[in-house]
Amino acid sequence: MKSQFFQLFWSAILAGKARADLPFYTNATAYNSGAYGNFPNQTFHSSDIVAPRFLVNKFEPDAIDKAPYLFFEWLYDGVGSPMIFRSDDLSLVYADPSYPGSGDVQIQTVFGEDYLTFWGGEEGFGQGNGHCYIFDQNYDLVHVIMPIGVAPGRFADLHECLLTSEGNVLVIVYESAVFDLTSVGGPVDGLCWDQLFQEIDPKTGQLLFSWRASEHYAISDTNRVYPDDHGDDYLISARSLDSIILINGTDGGTLWTLGGKNNDFTDTSGGRALGFAEQHHARIRGQNRMTLFDNHNRKNGVGCVTGCSRGLELKLDLDAMTAKFVREYYHPTGLVAAGKGGYVPLENGNALIAWGSQPSITEHKGDQVVMEIQVGRLSDELLFETNWPYRAFRMDWAGKPAWGPSIAVDSSAVYLSWNGATELDSWAVLASEKPQDILLQWETLAESKREGFETTIPLEGPKPHYIRGLALGNNGKVLGCTPVVDLQTGSYISTDDNILCSNSLKESI
Ligand SMILES: *[C@@H]1O[C@H](CO)[C@@H](O)[C@H](O)[C@H]1NC(C)=O
Ligand SMILES: *[C@@H]1O[C@H](CO)[C@@H](O)[C@H](O)[C@H]1NC(C)=O
Ligand SMILES: *[C@@H]1O[C@H](CO)[C@@H](O)[C@H](O)[C@H]1NC(C)=O
Repeated sequence: MKSQFFQLFWSAILAGKARADLPFYTNATAYNSGAYGNFPNQTFHSSDIVAPRFLVNKFEPDAIDKAPYLFFEWLYDGVGSPMIFRSDDLSLVYADPSYPGSGDVQIQTVFGEDYLTFWGGEEGFGQGNGHCYIFDQNYDLVHVIMPIGVAPGRFADLHECLLTSEGNVLVIVYESAVFDLTSVGGPVDGLCWDQLFQEIDPKTGQLLFSWRASEHYAISDTNRVYPDDHGDDYLISARSLDSIILINGTDGGTLWTLGGKNNDFTDTSGGRALGFAEQHHARIRGQNRMTLFDNHNRKNGVGCVTGCSRGLELKLDLDAMTAKFVREYYHPTGLVAAGKGGYVPLENGNALIAWGSQPSITEHKGDQVVMEIQVGRLSDELLFETNWPYRAFRMDWAGKPAWGPSIAVDSSAVYLSWNGATELDSWAVLASEKPQDILLQWETLAESKREGFETTIPLEGPKPHYIRGLALGNNGKVLGCTPVVDLQTGSYISTDDNILCSNSLKESI
């Protein structure tokens, strides 16, 4: 900051070296044995957010995909949030603890505008009951989507909050109903979950299309045994049928079925292409390329017991009706994900895999694992206690929060953070004897690059009366100002000058 208004006479007092968040754990044995708690975490001074403290088994910054942010959800003991992390140093960028249960956190683009989207609500037994949330770049909530005309108390399931290219939203619903379950060894009037999906126009709230599984599939089509757990066409992934099905967008009829008892395809890879089971996140990507997360966890039927979950890529030929195995990615420890899981192909050809009910995220470059991180213990006992990352995404995002940056001070340091601000590059700490003198009387005490979610600048020696933080972008542009802290009383002075502060400082720096 080069300005006649900013003399650096306090810098000798204050300019200790800035510190960042707590370091990652690297000892997998200790982490997975619970030595750091079931949910290794960290807290901050300037924010109420609780963030996961990763186990980093492998991280090769040069080999991972270049998209700057990583997206997934995290939850323990009712504390949790959709989250965004930087790709380069894995530091937290954004969390919103007002959505403790969430999933499918990602950026979706409609007509050139980027939106942060996720499902949020309550989860149990592999289903969710909640809403699909859509936020703009200021993190303002623009749409809350819930299904239309379904049973009372039933809302959107966690597995999809998908925007179409026209900006409509696809949601899934579970509804419980009475069915004849004798074909799978159950009673004649047993309760069974029926599943629907709906396409909804968020602007008008109009229901555009609805499809109900029980109208198209018989109970006997499942490979499960009672009482096991639970203009455009639509691709659905039917986990309990071990099938991926293309639905006619006009009449709801089945166009084709890949895998399971009603399979229409010939496996040209000797069984390797169609051997998936209990899968998640099936997607057709461009030229007949299909990706999915093959949980493959069931012990009966086609399932297997260990080392079987994988990311799977297939090539479909829809004229010849053949399916060919292309590649698969196993977890380095061969783990099995009982539920959830996602496979996202990245820009640079890598694959990003979230291991669902096992709290691990890996990135694969061919046969190499270039990132392997955990956000909790790998443990079968903890499987149903929490909401592990369902899917992880690596994407670009420009988050410009409507709220300002935060500051906290204790006897030894100043703590600075700005939840959600992707353009934040560095911090300046200003000092003054008079809080109301926004421009003329502030002096620069210290400057620091952003160091993790919360940048810590040690306070040493005699202290000025008032301080505040300035959030700076690249080239020192002022993006926001924190409240003023009275260091003599420890109180925070809320000034209404945030906009004035940014504007006037912009001129003077
Ligand atoms: C990792 O943790 C285990 C168990 O807590 C311990 O026995 C081992 O010495 C640690 N390894 C390293 C390299 O610190
Ligand atoms: C949160 O982390 C602390 C260590 O920083 C640990 O003692 C505690 O057990 C963790 N909490 C949970 C719920 O795992
Ligand atoms: C989809 O359904 C409509 C209406 O029944 C039908 O006209 C159309 O041919 C079907 N599409 C395909 C690809 O079969």
